[in-house]
Amino acid sequence: MSKDLDTLLKEEREFKADPNLIDQSNIKQWMNSHDINDYEELLEKSNENIEWFWNEMAMEMEWFKPYKQILEWEHPHAKWFLDGKFNIVHNALDRHIKTWRKNKVAYIWEGEDGSVKKLTYFELYREVNRLANALKNMGVKKGDRVSIYLPMILELPIAMLACAKIGAIHSVVFSGFWAKAFQERANDAKVKVAITADGFNRRGKTIELKKTVDMVIDNIPSIEKILVVENIGLEVNMEEGRDLFWSDVLKKEIAICETEELDSEDPLFILYTSGTTGKPKGVLHTHAGYAVGTYTTLKFVFDLNDQDIWWCAADVGWITGHSYIVYAPLLMGATSFIFEGTPDYPDPGRFWKMVEEHGVSVFYTAPTTIRMFMKHGEKWPQKYDLTTLRILGSVGEPINPEAWVWYHKNIGNHKCPIMDTWWQTETGMHIITPLPLSDLKPGSACKPFPTIQADVVDDDGNSIVGDGGHLVLKNPWPSMFRTLYGDPERYVEAYWSKFPGMYLSGDVARKDEEGYFWIQGREDDVLNVAGHRISTAEVESALVSHPTVAESAVVGRPDILKGEEIAAFVVLKNEFQASPKLKHQLREHVREFIGPIASPAFIGFVDDLPKTRSGKIMRRVIKARVKKEDVGDISTLSNPESVDGLDKAV
Ligand code: WTA
Repeated sequence: MSKDLDTLLKEEREFKADPNLIDQSNIKQWMNSHDINDYEELLEKSNENIEWFWNEMAMEMEWFKPYKQILEWEHPHAKWFLDGKFNIVHNALDRHIKTWRKNKVAYIWEGEDGSVKKLTYFELYREVNRLANALKNMGVKKGDRVSIYLPMILELPIAMLACAKIGAIHSVVFSGFWAKAFQERANDAKVKVAITADGFNRRGKTIELKKTVDMVIDNIPSIEKILVVENIGLEVNMEEGRDLFWSDVLKKEIAICETEELDSEDPLFILYTSGTTGKPKGVLHTHAGYAVGTYTTLKFVFDLNDQDIWWCAADVGWITGHSYIVYAPLLMGATSFIFEGTPDYPDPGRFWKMVEEHGVSVFYTAPTTIRMFMKHGEKWPQKYDLTTLRILGSVGEPINPEAWVWYHKNIGNHKCPIMDTWWQTETGMHIITPLPLSDLKPGSACKPFPTIQADVVDDDGNSIVGDGGHLVLKNPWPSMFRTLYGDPERYVEAYWSKFPGMYLSGDVARKDEEGYFWIQGREDDVLNVAGHRISTAEVESALVSHPTVAESAVVGRPDILKGEEIAAFVVLKNEFQASPKLKHQLREHVREFIGPIASPAFIGFVDDLPKTRSGKIMRRVIKARVKKEDVGDISTLSNPESVDGLDKAV
């Protein structure tokens, strides 16, 4: 049997759903109370009447004033739960304080140095109220934007919740991004206040965050105040009248603060994500729809209950952290574990040691992390007791079947289902995902969540089965993004104009005969590096901003661990010479511009980039050469000799 065929056959493996898990699951109980017998019937009934399904779920929330209409869909603009008065923080915190959950632990946090802190719902509620009062005193009002630039510490969810409580819009910037990326996002949203920290520890090294903000603060005219968390006791520069220490400010505030009664559709946050141009897209989410969507998916996909310890091992700076570390678990009243550090520090057993010590029962991570653990070997997880685990999850990029099977065996001890959840910053919640009822196929994200009409279409927009095509969504869902902040045309143009009536995800996928989806990756110029979305254009513009660089082209190169890594080809200005030193400088330059995650793994100097006669860079040719594949038809190239140059550089 040929090797290819062998792999194909392996991918046909199916892992049947566990009847015990099904019986006790949230989704099954919900189905029982709605006279639904099986998965097929669930999908059928909810797809037939999406408003019925989401209305049922929205009724599990507390509303200041009930909504009058469930959905208004004027393609491509959706509004959900119209005329309702709502606040996500009322549902994530305030309502729990009136119940037995008041003294339940909301967050167990572990620092990179091993120290542990716990916050109950009541303690979290009080901290949020103090900060909300402080923000008000700093002049922050409903609709104002606040930039939050913090590492993985408890002040990060506190800051987000405090903004939401008073109706301010938060814009979290991932702490792995550096000065220019912070500046660009803060300016785009015209933020009034920034919340940051003195610094933090990463793999034993100190990262100076306030100093990074100081580097660009003069270029962000809208910022009036900077609140600084004293996280690791670094000396920082504090500008009189502008910069304030978190602890000084909070100790003056009382722990009671009214939650603002907002409209369902009032904005909750902006989160910037990479698109096909250099300018990041400010994805905007709203209070009520986002709450209902994230709550429902966490409840049904990861099946959380009050005994669980939930660990979503993402960074709060990304959508996975927004939805499934901050909002959805709190809406459910769950206990979450949060880890400050990285999976393999100080050794590759760190994650499993914490699973054992904290008794984590549901665990959610990215394929790149699983592949890293595979590399280190089974001996690391074997050292720890992982028997508390009952459900596992994967997100961020396609999980290759080998990694899936390794995860299932070595972490899940053959008994935990793996929820391979496909979704995006834009969707806010899981879109294509298994449920505890699903029979699993390693490498497939299974079927669309109830009510979601996902499809794979060819270039003409016709639905296709068995072949790769564009992954599209054909109807609205409550936690869909409402627009791109400050750029409503781009919202329509980038997502809703290629195929009439369909949301274009930008991913390529295949649908099999049984309706299972197999996500294959991005189809546009967005790279997926270790689960981070990075646009090639953004890296290119960082490179071109270096004084030596005339032109550059950035493509993805397959990498076993990271999925993709960044390969950059650079044409220097005539007066400059290629050298290892310059390569190093260019990498540093990109790090400073965007952040370490965007620094190219490979830089090749070339005299020329392959171009069409109209002067357009032919990325297809560059991609092929990087993968050492045949370049195909290059008759439209104006400079075929450039291909040899690429080969020499690779
Ligand atoms: C990719 C992360 C395959 C995909 C939640 C998508 C996935 C992009 C999966 C969104 C998955 C996410 N299988 N690919 N289970 N989950 N992706 O906005 O390319 O950071 O378009 O949201 O990640 O990345 P984002």
